[in-house]
Amino acid sequence: MTQVMGDTDYGRVGESYSRVRRTDPRIAALVHAALGDARTIVNVGAGAGSYEPEDRHVLPVEPSTAMRAQRPAHLAPAIHGVAEALPFDDGAVDAAMAMATLHQWPDPVAGLREMRRVARGPVVVLTFDGDELGRLWLMDYVPEMLQAEAARCPDIGMITDTLGPGTEAHPVPIPIDCVDGLVEAFYARPESFLDPVVRRAQSAWSFLGPGVEERAMARLEADLASGAWDEKYGSHRTRPEFHGAVRLIVSH
Ligand SMILES: C[S@@+](CC[C@H](N)C(=O)[O-])C[C@H]1O[C@@H](n2cnc3c(N)ncnc32)[C@H](O)[C@@H]1O
Repeated sequence: MTQVMGDTDYGRVGESYSRVRRTDPRIAALVHAALGDARTIVNVGAGAGSYEPEDRHVLPVEPSTAMRAQRPAHLAPAIHGVAEALPFDDGAVDAAMAMATLHQWPDPVAGLREMRRVARGPVVVLTFDGDELGRLWLMDYVPEMLQAEAARCPDIGMITDTLGPGTEAHPVPIPIDCVDGLVEAFYARPESFLDPVVRRAQSAWSFLGPGVEERAMARLEADLASGAWDEKYGSHRTRPEFHGAVRLIVSH
């Protein structure tokens, strides 16, 4: 079934998403602190429910049927909707959150304005700084990804300007054993990229030309087997955290 939402086909991604992309408790602690004491929260582009605080009232909004179907039974079912037209009144909730979804919205400015409109308090956005994606060694293997993702990631200045005065962008360190399978989560576990289930849960792979992914993975596999990867990048294997492109934007 075709399930193209934003720029990604989640029908194709299927159930691998919720297996690979789980809430990382260290990142969740930053998100939940930014939400402050909000009791009612809209989660935009909610997907399978990662990072939803389970001790508050969450209203998830998610356009993809395939993603809504992956939500666990203990979380609220998601409302069918898009960021650009949130089905809530002005100031209807205490806070709004959007995790790893902004880069997929056709109109991020409209979506951010909608979040600001419906939330009385904080708007919290987990996103990627397109200028910092090159920090990850993987981009040496797939420079095409660096180019495609940099174009896809909304500019951090645009996000802070749209959300208005008092908006801050904080770097999010990625822990060595991060359980949210974002691309950067595997900085210390290069073998993980060889698993197609891992790559399918990362939308960045779907914007490459024919054969690019296969060629890059063949090179990585050969470098891991020969020891060339460890010689060049091996210090990553023991680095407790990685400072890359992930950012938490908080508008008060
Ligand atoms: C990478 S997933 C992230 C899901 C979840 N927030 C998480 O952290 O696991 C991106 C999600 O954004 C959704 N999405 C795409 N376009 C959207 C839009 N215009 N408005 C709201 N959500 C959108 C997709 O359907 C998908 O579920």
